Amino acid sequence: MKRVLTGTALATVLALGAGNASAVVKVGFMLPYSGTYAALGQAIENGFKLYVQEQGGKLGGQELQYFQVDDESNPSKGPDNANRLIKRDQVDVLVGTVHSGVAMALAKAANDSDTTLIIPNAGADAITGPLCSKNVFRSSFSNWQPSYAMGPVAVEKGYKTAVTITWNYAAGKEAIAGFKESFEKEGGKVVKELTLPFPQVEFQPLLTEVASIKPDAVFTFFAGGGAVKFVQDYAAAGLKDTVPLLSSGFMTDGTLKAQGESAQGLFTTLHYADGLDTPRDNAFRENYTKNFPSMQPDVYAVQGYDAAQLLAAGLEAVKGDVSKKDDMRTAMRSATIDSPRGQFTLSSAGNPVQDIYLRKVVGEQNLTQGVAIKALADPARGCKL
Ligand code: PHB
Repeated sequence: MKRVLTGTALATVLALGAGNASAVVKVGFMLPYSGTYAALGQAIENGFKLYVQEQGGKLGGQELQYFQVDDESNPSKGPDNANRLIKRDQVDVLVGTVHSGVAMALAKAANDSDTTLIIPNAGADAITGPLCSKNVFRSSFSNWQPSYAMGPVAVEKGYKTAVTITWNYAAGKEAIAGFKESFEKEGGKVVKELTLPFPQVEFQPLLTEVASIKPDAVFTFFAGGGAVKFVQDYAAAGLKDTVPLLSSGFMTDGTLKAQGESAQGLFTTLHYADGLDTPRDNAFRENYTKNFPSMQPDVYAVQGYDAAQLLAAGLEAVKGDVSKKDDMRTAMRSATIDSPRGQFTLSSAGNPVQDIYLRKVVGEQNLTQGVAIKALADPARGCKL
């Protein structure tokens, strides 16, 4: 269809120069703004906007216009919510989400409409595995990555048996599988895998079972509001000093103020940590705290910040012309991101290749104890691109 442009529309196009299709880049945030992951969604948006603000409000010379949908971490609403942004708001780029099940629906909608998608958290292995796609990028992790790094740490601490506890959905199951793979490879044994439905928090029956099995350690995946309660309940059940609690670092990120004493001394593995003390991270943390005084800079804020950096790499390569999708995506895939976590690149499947830190809770910080595994790449099993 040929469109006749008159008046201001024509002036806008002329001002933007040839080939530049839209006056602004439309960014659609599909994130949880309610429910157990609400704080995570907010931190991601904060981090994203902080980076854009640091660039003077523009990426690749373009202003951004933001659209938002609260996905409620509800997979059944995923397709409709994604299409609100894709079809109704006609966004150029999608940024979402936190929950792996919702992310699966979002990735499908992005693929069907050939929309560029940057995932600022959800680790669903399949998205950068069998369902990998040229238009999909992660600024976060695969569920396998942080948990895989804990197996050797547990064996080194002398633990031979472990019980796992998690929510029964993709992120929990895949995190447990990552831990189990490396723990058993090093000679450990997962003796029982306990689950409860997402986002339930009735942990008591599971903790009773742990007390009766008496494993050397417990490994978990929990995050957000549910993680706060799990750590409190674990300590209240008297298990903290008898059965060491290990986890991927989501269990103690953005949650330490609320967890207080119950979290002290816990060891976790994650691609971000407090106390990195690099100029890059210190600058990020200072500016984040200045802009969001009530929030601590956490892994979610970093992932949001790096989602904006990834988009910037793409937009700069095409001088803000989002219609040049292939060139933009090629630049994104080959970018080196100067992240507060440390520099990272993307695998050909679009997932960060990154260091995983061992951290220990001290006060309200997940203090780095050093790198557990350097430059860990997700195996991207089943990805053919
Ligand atoms: C996920 O569903 O992939 C997920 C959610 C919260 C986290 C990490 C992973 O902190």
